[in-house]
Amino acid sequence: MIEIRPLTPTIGAEILGVDLAGPLSNQELDTVHRALLDHCVVFFRDQRMTIEQHKAFGARFGKLHVHPNAPKRFPEHPEILTIEAGPQSKRVAGEVWHSDVSCDVEPPMGSILHIHEVPENGGGDTMFANQYAAFEALSPAMQQFLQTCTAKHESRKSANHQYREPGPDQKFPEAEHPVVRTHPETGRKALFVNRGFTTRIVQLTQKESDSVLNMLFEHAEQPKFVCRFKWQPHSVAFWDNRAVQHQAMWDYFPQRRFGHRVTVCGDRPFLRA
Ligand code: SIN
Repeated sequence: MIEIRPLTPTIGAEILGVDLAGPLSNQELDTVHRALLDHCVVFFRDQRMTIEQHKAFGARFGKLHVHPNAPKRFPEHPEILTIEAGPQSKRVAGEVWHSDVSCDVEPPMGSILHIHEVPENGGGDTMFANQYAAFEALSPAMQQFLQTCTAKHESRKSANHQYREPGPDQKFPEAEHPVVRTHPETGRKALFVNRGFTTRIVQLTQKESDSVLNMLFEHAEQPKFVCRFKWQPHSVAFWDNRAVQHQAMWDYFPQRRFGHRVTVCGDRPFLRA
C-alpha cells in the first residue's frame, strides 16, 4: 500500500511503500505521477535500483535526456549524469538555484536523483522551491506584467558553476521562454526564471531587466516556498522541473557525496492566457 506523506503544505512529499527497482504497476506509476504533480517533488528512501532500473523508471515518464556537457562516467549509459563531490572538487553541480537545463529549447520535465553516498558528518541537502506558489504570491499587477514577458536562458551563465571548467568542446545552448509558463499537465501558472540560467528579460532594457530579475530571484527562493531534503544513502528525489527550482548545498567539503541522475525530456514552455 503506497503512502504519501507531505513534507510541508506548500511543497514536497515522501512516498512510502513503493520499490522503484520495479517494474511498477500502472496503478503504482499513476500514484507516483499524481503525487509529483500535487507536491512538485517527491522523495523515496532506501531504494536499491541498479542503473538499468533507474533508467527504466525514468523512461516510464518520457524519453531520457543526455546532457550535452556533463562528464559521462558510464559511456554505455550516456543518460546517467553523475553527481559527485569530494576532496578534489572545485565546484559541484547545482549549487546555484536553477531549473535543470532551462537553456534548452525544450527543458526537461523532471529529474530523478539517486544518491548513494552522503557526507560523513551531514550536509549536502537539496532545497526545492515551488514556483506556482512564487507566482501566485506576486501582486496581480506584477503577475499581469510578467505574462507579457519572455526571458533568455543561457548555459554560458551556468558554465561558471557547473560540473567542470568549460573546455574547447563545451556547447552553449540558449533559449527564450515565457517568464510565466503554463504547466502542460496541471494547467497552473508557474514563474519560470532562475538565477542559474536566466540572463535577460527580452522586452526590457538591461538595467530594468537586471532589477526585475534580481527581485524575482529573491522572491522565488524565499523559505516559505521551499522544502529541504536530507539525504540518506540510497534516497531518491524526483522533481517536476516545470514547477520547481532547486539548489544543492555544498557545505560538506572535503567530504564525499555521490549519486546518479536520470533526466526526463520535456516540451517547449508556453503560456496559456
Ligand atoms: C542537480 O541536479 O542540480 C544537483 C542536485 C543535488 O546534487 O542535490
